[in-house]
Amino acid sequence: MKPTGGICVIGVQWGDEGKGKIVDWLAERSDVVVRYQGGGNAGHTVVVRGQKFVLHLIPSGILHPGRLNVIGNGVVLDPEQLLAEVDELRGKGVAVGRNLAVSNRAHLVMPYHKLLDRLGEEGQGEAKIGTTNRGIGPCYADKAARIGIRVGDLYHPSYFRERLARALAEKNRILRALYGHPPLRAEAIAERYLAWARRMRPFVADTVELLNAQAARGKRILFEGAQGTLLDLDFGTYPFVTSSNADACGVSAGTGLPPKRIGCVLGVVKAYTTRVGSGPFPTELTGPEGDRLRERGGEYGATTGRPRRCGWFDAVAVRHAVLVNGIDAFAVTKLDVLDDLAEIPVCTAYRVRGRRLTTFPADIRTLAEAKPVLTSHPGWRTSIRGARRYRDLPVAARRYLESLTRQLGVRLEMVSVGKDREETIVVDACR
Ligand code: IMP
Repeated sequence: MKPTGGICVIGVQWGDEGKGKIVDWLAERSDVVVRYQGGGNAGHTVVVRGQKFVLHLIPSGILHPGRLNVIGNGVVLDPEQLLAEVDELRGKGVAVGRNLAVSNRAHLVMPYHKLLDRLGEEGQGEAKIGTTNRGIGPCYADKAARIGIRVGDLYHPSYFRERLARALAEKNRILRALYGHPPLRAEAIAERYLAWARRMRPFVADTVELLNAQAARGKRILFEGAQGTLLDLDFGTYPFVTSSNADACGVSAGTGLPPKRIGCVLGVVKAYTTRVGSGPFPTELTGPEGDRLRERGGEYGATTGRPRRCGWFDAVAVRHAVLVNGIDAFAVTKLDVLDDLAEIPVCTAYRVRGRRLTTFPADIRTLAEAKPVLTSHPGWRTSIRGARRYRDLPVAARRYLESLTRQLGVRLEMVSVGKDREETIVVDACR
């Protein structure tokens, strides 16, 4: 398929599907790479010739000279984190300058957002979401409550101070009444943010104008989703979700490019499932099988370092993601992690109170009770890391992939068989 609009790369599980590597591959064949939601909660790991880059805010296209990287209005931006990332990239010899644009409409993550994120989670017991503590939920809540502060406000210092004073008056009352926390000082916060604003200035732009102009000139645009569909605010496992639309539906609202500018949606899916944070996970393996997947797959959070919960592939959950994103093709990642298994189970349905369920329930209580119905596939028991063409894969590995794509009703575009850029099989490139 050769799409006329942009390609959207979406995680179809609970995040950490390995989107960074796929975006990196596609960035080579794109002109513009755009982040449209989330913030510093994301952690995209890209390995280039043995050198590891972990990007939280800056799109992975930054590793390709000549690409324009855009942080869209739908992202919540922590300026301290952005500048630390810029410094780190420059320290590793990556040029960052005119190739990065930050939306003047993006909302700022403020110190009280991070504080309230952490304090709000403490003492929540079972109800704890297990957030990344990056202030994401409180920042989006302020955006919706219309008390947020945007990047562009930083360049009108008196207006910025006014907005900050108004928001902080409320936050300080909450901090004292609910948590007995001493008040934060507006002046100290303003000084830091205005200093960061001076450093950020060269990157700040009206990215709505910029992106639409790029699209009108026929530039190839890549939308880089963060988190995953099952963490989407509307279609994920609410309330154990992130606070933005992490699926393809978030693209237009988070960039200002109309929906018709999306040409194709590529779903990134891990050959098994992982989740960080709390919430139901029907195929979770809590014993040694889960530990084995974690160790072989290096399943520790790129942002928080937390061990990820691991389990078998869940076709019911992924079918739900196919539906809400309109997935055109799949990139399957980390297939090599399954190399030494004799049998590979896949969840094809759930059993809930004696009933068989083949659709993903909206109701979290039902999902929590769901027991996976597993179908076993023979393993290949050999290393596939050297495979570069689809036909290099052992028959059992191809059967496993064909079974997944058949169940999901979506064709296969790429297979990742290792961490490095080169360890990728392109089955049928859309670009
Ligand atoms: P928040 O986005 O920090 O508010 O966290 C909400 C939920 O989303 C928690 O379960 C987090 O662990 C999860 N989460 C947020 N970002 C990511 C990510 O990039 N990968 C995987 N899980 C994430």
